[in-house]
Amino acid sequence: MTVVSTRGATLTQGRADFPVGFVWGAATASYQIEGAAHEDGRGPSIWDTFSGTPGKVIGGDTGDVACDHYFRYADDVRLMSDLDLAAYRFSVAWPRIQPDGTGPANTRGLDFYSRLVDRLLEAGITPYVTLYHWDLPQALEDAGGWPERDTAYRFADYARIVHARLGDRVQHWTTLNEPWVAAFLGYGNGVHAPGRREPAAAFRAAHHLLLGHGLAARAIREAGAEEIGLALNLSPVITPAQVGDPAAVPSLQDAEAVGRIDTLLTRHFLDPALRGEYPVELLAMIERNGGLAHIRDGDLEIINQPIDVIGINYYNPCVVESGPGQAADAAWPGSEDIRFCPVDDVPATAMGWPIVPNGLSRLLVRLADDYPEVGLVITENGAAFEDVVEGDRVHDTGRTGYLDGHLRAVHAAIADGADVRGYLVWSLLDNFEWAYGYGRRFGIVHVDFDTQRRLFKDSALWYREVIKQNGLRG
Ligand code: NOJ
Repeated sequence: MTVVSTRGATLTQGRADFPVGFVWGAATASYQIEGAAHEDGRGPSIWDTFSGTPGKVIGGDTGDVACDHYFRYADDVRLMSDLDLAAYRFSVAWPRIQPDGTGPANTRGLDFYSRLVDRLLEAGITPYVTLYHWDLPQALEDAGGWPERDTAYRFADYARIVHARLGDRVQHWTTLNEPWVAAFLGYGNGVHAPGRREPAAAFRAAHHLLLGHGLAARAIREAGAEEIGLALNLSPVITPAQVGDPAAVPSLQDAEAVGRIDTLLTRHFLDPALRGEYPVELLAMIERNGGLAHIRDGDLEIINQPIDVIGINYYNPCVVESGPGQAADAAWPGSEDIRFCPVDDVPATAMGWPIVPNGLSRLLVRLADDYPEVGLVITENGAAFEDVVEGDRVHDTGRTGYLDGHLRAVHAAIADGADVRGYLVWSLLDNFEWAYGYGRRFGIVHVDFDTQRRLFKDSALWYREVIKQNGLRG
């Protein structure tokens, strides 16, 4: 294997063999694929309310039908089986289990996930269950949502219920998906449900999400859960010069900007979850945004439960520099003097996200250095492109190239000592891409949303080969 340095990326060429037992899979989330919004006693979630509000989602798209996976799950498991997936990450919709977010379990909702798990196991596919992927029961939002402490306790009750039903067959548990996004896009800039724009509430939401993580992790561990993790949206925070030259040394001011964004995005979650402390700079930011009164004695001990893995959702680096910025983004309170820089000299996906595979190696190696006690799993990585269906083929070379580059980046990080145990491509299916609706396709399987026909894209066929080889050929 040779390692070559190209503009913006250090890529490995040639064979890249992954460790024996490396887990290959794909991921989805409940609201993005299930549909069946009113089936079997499901209650409304904040995403039903948000997507039903004009102007919130492009084209007025909603998850009412989505991929109709609730009814087609058995066919979808067959697709996974045809692709030789070893693992499938999905999320449980809390409002199917507790329609109002509290109280006794809705058995019909649990039955669905129980059937899904059985199908997966029959097909030899290991289920990876995420308990919260953003579909908070609307009734809990009506009571104040994540900025309220009680929501954390409700989440632990819900986690206990799901574990009690599936824990005899599911070993891999993720408490939360991307709490930064849930807090700062949901309650900070309002681009996601529930669409609130209250920076102080966003900080409270983040703390209560972490508290919910700790309470839920403790509850399901006591009930026998084997592997527990937390999935975070993680990006290396770098300067524009470091996109092309990872070794470039930032100025003092730029280093300060990088440090502040990294604190908000990364250490905000990893330090309390893995070390039982908030960074002092973060505490100062929270103090300036509504105060610290919601952080009570003993909370950090609860948040700091022993966990086994960190789930990494990586798409692109976060590129910043110090200096008079563009309009301040309420998702980043206290960062008005930091510029989020466009990256123009590398190709981008249909989301406009720059393609920088070496950002993933950088991230993984940093995590391995700073948090060596925990294993790493790539719980999401993938890309949206403008796919074209030609007959029964989708020649999505852009996506295949993206995945190939990022897998080489994972391989390089493993070679550098990072304990990366698996890779779950985002996503199995084209699906509801939140505020972008159905217009952004991340699937390796194409979905025709009029007919619900599924079609393997070329990237899916390529991925099957990767799985078969346990790595990449030349
Ligand atoms: C992260 C989220 O977890 C997932 O739901 C989303 O579709 C992808 N990123 C792509 O934006």
